[in-house]
Amino acid sequence: MSERAALTRATAFAPASVGNVAIGFDILGFAVPSLGDRVTVSRRALPGVEIGAVRGVAGDLPREPRANTAGRALLAMQEALAPGFGFTLEIDKGIPLASGLGGSASSAVAAVVAANALMAKPCTSLELLKFALAGEATSGGDRHVDNVAPSLFGGLVLTVGIDNPRVKQIPVPDGIRAVIVHPHMAIATSTARAMLKGSVQLADFVWATANLAGFISGCYTNDLDMIRASFEDVVIEPQRQALIPGFQQVRGAAMQAGALGCSISGAGPSMFAWANEQAAAAVAAGMRAEFQAAGLATDSWIVNLECAGAHLT
Ligand code: HSE
Repeated sequence: MSERAALTRATAFAPASVGNVAIGFDILGFAVPSLGDRVTVSRRALPGVEIGAVRGVAGDLPREPRANTAGRALLAMQEALAPGFGFTLEIDKGIPLASGLGGSASSAVAAVVAANALMAKPCTSLELLKFALAGEATSGGDRHVDNVAPSLFGGLVLTVGIDNPRVKQIPVPDGIRAVIVHPHMAIATSTARAMLKGSVQLADFVWATANLAGFISGCYTNDLDMIRASFEDVVIEPQRQALIPGFQQVRGAAMQAGALGCSISGAGPSMFAWANEQAAAAVAAGMRAEFQAAGLATDSWIVNLECAGAHLT
């Protein structure tokens, strides 16, 4: 990229995201543009990273840069680029903590996109993805790209590889909407990852690979029947569903109302479904009613799957 007049202060918005999408554990996710985090980055003379403020729905986040996903992402950027100045961050959280909506990824992505505007020689999107990924590792303990990539690029995103990631935005058939329902409870990603078995039965492996292949090919060929048939997580969801009160009933209500599929958003507790735009409102209402019956208040969103990723504001 060419040299340009760099800013001294910039703000970026990065959308929330749904990781895994039932059939792509750690590799597939989609952006949820109705909510997100906003990060303002200012130049400071001293190298290093300082977190000046954290506001919004998760105000008790760590202020120590290495323990904060946005701070750690910018430390990785500084170590790689040595720009000759430091960063001061202000983080406005729009995504509730431990909601399964990719909040830690969103802060990291917004931070690197804002910081990039301060660079005389801006980074490519893939470089930004790697810095954001270094930040995301702060929260879950290990690196997974399924929230960072859709938050940065927008839409439904498949990522192959961690150190040298290949990113593919997958087309989604017209008229499909995502319904996202957030019950008011928290599940730490680290807890939901620690409970997973380290091995997969051969029969489940066959089924899971068929579902991922079927789902992606269904997206490319507008084959709703293939998407519906392959929209099932046979490996992770059976292990995690006990963490979510009313899980079976919420999923059942979504399917009853005509959803193509319904599963856990990332590590939970939020759940998501895909549905035709005509059915989406009924799917959301059914899911919310079942969470309510399980004693949980909710927020919900219906979003278009074709949407922009992180951007300067
Ligand atoms: N793929 C990750 C998981 C997403 O399910 O653990 C967590 O945000």
